[in-house]
Order: sequence, then C-alpha cells, then structure tokens
Amino acid sequence: MFSIDEILFESPLVLAPLAGYSDLPFRLLCRRFGAGLVFSEMISCHGLVYRQKKTLHMLASSLEEQPLAIQLFGADPVMMGEAAAILNEFSPTFIDINMGCPVRKVTRRGAGSALMKDISLAEKILSAVIANSKVPVTVKTRAGVDSQNITAPEFARMCEDTGASAITIHGRTWAQGFSGKADWNIVRKVKKAVNIPVIGNGDIETYDQGVSRIEETGCNGIMIGRAALGNPWVFQKEGRPEHLEDILPAVRQHLQLMEEHLDTVRVLAYIRNHTGRYFRDFPGSSRLRKSIHDCESFPILKNLINSLE
Ligand SMILES: Cc1cc2nc3c(=O)[nH]c(=O)nc-3n(C[C@H](O)[C@H](O)[C@H](O)COP(=O)(O)O)c2cc1C
Repeated sequence: MFSIDEILFESPLVLAPLAGYSDLPFRLLCRRFGAGLVFSEMISCHGLVYRQKKTLHMLASSLEEQPLAIQLFGADPVMMGEAAAILNEFSPTFIDINMGCPVRKVTRRGAGSALMKDISLAEKILSAVIANSKVPVTVKTRAGVDSQNITAPEFARMCEDTGASAITIHGRTWAQGFSGKADWNIVRKVKKAVNIPVIGNGDIETYDQGVSRIEETGCNGIMIGRAALGNPWVFQKEGRPEHLEDILPAVRQHLQLMEEHLDTVRVLAYIRNHTGRYFRDFPGSSRLRKSIHDCESFPILKNLINSLE
C-alpha cells in the first residue's frame, strides 16, 4: 500500500495539481471516485504572505477531501518559508513545492521549472519550507531542463537529503512544455536513486495504464491530470461508463458540489467549462456542449443537466 510518512492512501492514484481546475469541488469529487490523494492548484507564496483575497479563496478546503497536498510556488526562500508557516493554519496533509511548472509567468521569476537550473536555490527553498511546516513536505518536478540535461535523479537525491517526504516526477522536460511524450524511464531511474516514495506522472489515461506503470517502474504512486477532467472514473478500474445516462449522476454531483462551494454567478464560465468536459464522444455531444456553453445562469445549466436522461 502506498504511503508517505506513514500516512496511508486507499489508492495509489493521485489527482494532479491543475491550475484553474483542481479546486475543492473537483477534488472532493475525485476523492469520492477513488483518488487516494488530491493536490490543490499551485498557490503563490506572495499571494499567501500578503493574504490576497484571491489566493485565500483558493485555499478553501474540507476534511472530507483529505489527504490533501497544498502546492506552493515561488522562488524566494524567505517568502516560501513564511507562506509555509501560514499554510499550517489550513491544516493540509502535505505541503508540496512546485519545481516543474513551465509557464513563463512562473519561470521568469525563477520559480517552477526554473528551479531545476538552480539546484542550490531549490535546496534553500525546500529547507525553508520544511523548517516552517508542521506537515511533511513533498516536491513536484520534471525530468530536467531539456533532453541534454536530464537531472531528475540527482535533483530527487537533493530533495531526499534535504528532508522531502516524497517526490513527483513528470516525465517531460521544461523545454518540452506539454508537447511530445512523458518518458517513464526517468521515473524508473528516480525510483532507483532515492528511498522516499516516488509518484510518476505524465500521459496516464486509464486506471490500468497507471497500474502497469507502477509495475514497470517500481514507482509508488501515479498522478493523473488531464485525463481526470470530465472523467473522475479514471480513478476506478471500470473506467468511464459507456452510456450518457450513467455519466449524468456524476455531473449532477459535481454541479451540486460547485453550487455548495463556489460563487455560481461569478464563476459561471468556469462551471460551464468543467461541465462541458463530461460530454465527449456521445451521439449529439457537440450540440449538447454548445447548449451548456450557452447557459446564461447556473439554474439554467442545472435545469438543462437535470432534463437529460
Ligand atoms: C491546465 C493545467 C494546469 C496545471 N497546473 C499545474 C499546477 O498548478 N501545478 C503543477 O505542479 N502542475 C500543473 N500542471 C501539470 C500537471 O499537474 C501534470 O504534471 C501534467 O498535466 C502531466 O500530467 P497528465 O498527462 O496526467 O495531464 C497543470 C497542467 C494542466 C494541463
């Protein structure tokens, strides 16, 4: 059974941090559908230290979704330490540090993937977060900067030596962004290089694929991102039901969770986006997605989904 620092998970399948998607309602849904651990969207250490409203909003959480890893990003060890201290108030199960995001807005400030280029800064950040956190600290990173610089094994060793409790490896390089394929050989190499649990990530589309990757690489957990959108069944062996009528209860449950936890007026476009993702590959699904997109209020959207059978 997969565990991190003696915290045991019901499943080795993990919901990835997905900025703009992995909020409280979606995380709760994925836990209910079998994800063993869920990650928050990345949270800016500056936003947290300055207690910006938008950032604090992103920290909405509930006991039911635990185990939960809240992910921090930033490039300043002092700010990251302060942010970790503040996160203690929110009682996550883990604090994760983003050392793999390739988005320019993040890397141009030296955070995310850029930390793979500066291992000593990465170490200082990790030390500062560990020193201030009351819970185990984990790191999520990539294979390396580019194909000439596949540094994940030594990076993972640094994380272990500094005191990280687990590491997630997305098998792409910073240079790749989201193009090409994830290289799972690098996950195997990292697993050999360290004793802390390793979570492999990249391009997993089904439960069975995840289980095969564990067997092939020896990694402890599997993180799933894009394939979970509109598809929380990815955390179950049986996978997504074939018929529309069997999809609908999950969509209704997701809508209910969004209604409970979100401002349905302010984030209507976001809710339509999540909802539309359930309706792929059914007869008439493009028309249905258009109708979802055209809903002008949450009650209209809810009525539309409730009228389907
Ligand atoms: C829309 C989107 C948002 C993401 N946000 C984050 C994030 O906040 N933090 C992070 O570490 N990775 C983030 N990622 C990367 C994913 O966690 C994951 O590493 C990547 O999508 C590969 O896994 P997949 O093939 O299962 O999607 C994001 C990816 C996508 C597509």
